[in-house]
Amino acid sequence: MKTILWATLTANGNYAQSGPDNPPTQEALSDFAEQAKAAGNFIVGRKTFEGMQDPSRVSLEEQTNAEGPFAGMDIVVMSKSIQAIPGLTIAGSPREALDCLRQKGHKTALVSGGADIHNSFLGEGLVDELIFNVAPVVEGKGLNLLIDKDNYRYKKVKLLDCKPLGGGIVQLRYGIDR
Ligand SMILES: NC(=O)c1ccc[n+]([C@@H]2O[C@H](COP(=O)([O-])OP(=O)(O)OC[C@H]3O[C@@H](n4cnc5c(N)ncnc54)[C@H](OP(=O)(O)O)[C@@H]3O)[C@@H](O)[C@H]2O)c1
Repeated sequence: MKTILWATLTANGNYAQSGPDNPPTQEALSDFAEQAKAAGNFIVGRKTFEGMQDPSRVSLEEQTNAEGPFAGMDIVVMSKSIQAIPGLTIAGSPREALDCLRQKGHKTALVSGGADIHNSFLGEGLVDELIFNVAPVVEGKGLNLLIDKDNYRYKKVKLLDCKPLGGGIVQLRYGIDR
């Protein structure tokens, strides 16, 4: 199964964080909805999933109902502490998340974050494609995407595409060997 890692980076190379005072842009959200629709699924970390249920944002019910952007999608929440969420799948490891989607017949899995989840998939060498949306914002001390959290290593990637998404965002797509 092809695994795509989708992430927003800041213009100074951090793994972008968002919050009530710094929400994701509409362009980034629309792009995410498009990528998730194409894959038919997404994998999300427990903390990011909880952020998606922030009362200031559109509710999960509205996002997953027939008119919502995630209608009919398989959503996998990664957690070692939660046993079940009605209507969603819980996975305790990256391989378990991919196995669940493979068993449901998916050919592509979209890994949507956050940092722990992305780094777990990268660390285990389970990613085939990287989609980085570089947002017009710079941050101070923050989060990083790493293929190895303990040691210096590098891996060359192949640029597949580069395009503006609007709103000052540039999308870079890279192929990465497992
Ligand atoms: N730049 C982007 O594209 C992007 C996208 C999404 C989120 N974000 C940002 O990322 C931050 C949140 O990221 P985060 O790293 O704190 O949290 P996260 O990755 O969303 O969730 C972390 C949780 O996922 C579970 N988990 C992590 N690794 C796991 C593994 N290998 N197997 C099973 N479960 C695992 C654990 O849940 P339990 O504790 O329940 O076991 C862990 O506490 C926020 O600042 C958010 O704004 C950025």
